[in-house]
Order: sequence, then structure tokens, then C-alpha cells
Amino acid sequence: MALERTFAIIKPDAVAKGHTGDILSMIEHNGFRIIGMKMRRIAKPEAEAFYAVHKERPFFKGLVNFMTEGPVVVMVLEREDAIAKWRELMGATNPANAAEGTIRKRFAENIERNSVHGSDAPETAAQEIPFFFGTAELL
Ligand code: RTP
Ligand code: MG
Repeated sequence: MALERTFAIIKPDAVAKGHTGDILSMIEHNGFRIIGMKMRRIAKPEAEAFYAVHKERPFFKGLVNFMTEGPVVVMVLEREDAIAKWRELMGATNPANAAEGTIRKRFAENIERNSVHGSDAPETAAQEIPFFFGTAELL
């Protein structure tokens, strides 16, 4: 399989609790190359746009509040089969169902405050990467 890119976020819960370094280490140890990375705050309208697919869901308002409560680390990761492999390393959305050795099993607090985000398909990655990164920021 060819090299692929995916978009990832270390969410506010994990940054606030000081898990950024451990999560970056897990990413690098699992064969991903970090080709773009920055720490920043997400503004409310940005979070609403980013998660627009969920806007009718009961958890939408809480999700937007959570994603804007503190700094996040946004990244573009590259490896073979990056989209599926990153979701595998993240673990299930609900940490109660996440497999041993996954980021969410290790660090997530609950189904909402679940430490990391990852694109769920090539079309999603193609929208999410330019949402946060210009081409000159990808190395
Ligand atoms: P993500 O998009 O953040 O990578 O997570 P995911 O694909 O595993 O989960 P998704 O269904 O896309 O949900 C997006 C995020 O919304 C929050 N959520 N809260 N309270 C709830 O029932 C609930 N369900 C989802 C989580 O932060 C989830 O990652
Ligand atoms: Mg999702």
C-alpha cells in the first residue's frame, strides 16, 4: 500500500493532563512520520465547522465546548495505511471499549473526553488536513 496521510488532534483533556509527550512517542514508535504539527486553540466557530457532520447529535454542544476549552496539538501523520493505522492506535471512541495498548485505553477519561481525534476516511482526511494546515506547513 502507498504512503497515506491522516489528520490527528491531541485533544484538550490530554494536553492539559501532560500526556502530549507520551502520545507523540506512541505515534513515532508506531511508524508514523509527523509531517506537520502545531499547538493552538480552536475557536468556537472552527470547532462547529470541523464537527459539522455531528451538528444534529445530542453531544454536539458539549463536544464544541470541550474542543475549545484549552490548547490542542494538531498534526498530519504519514505512513502506509495511515488512516486505518492511526484509528487502530487511537482505540474505540468509548475508552471502556478500547483495546489494550491504545491511546484511548491509556489516557481517555470517557466517551467525550477521549484524548485524540483521527480522520475516518480518505475524503475526511482530504478535508481536515487543509482545514488546519497550508501546504507550506507540511514537510
Ligand atoms: P473523532 O472524530 O474525534 O476522531 O472520534 P470518533 O471518530 O471515534 O468518534 P465520532 O463518532 O466521530 O465522535 C466525535 C467525537 O465526539 C465526542 N462524542 N461524544 N457524548 C457522546 O456520546 C459522544 N459521542 C461522541 C467524542 O469526543 C468523539 O471522539
Ligand atoms: Mg470521527
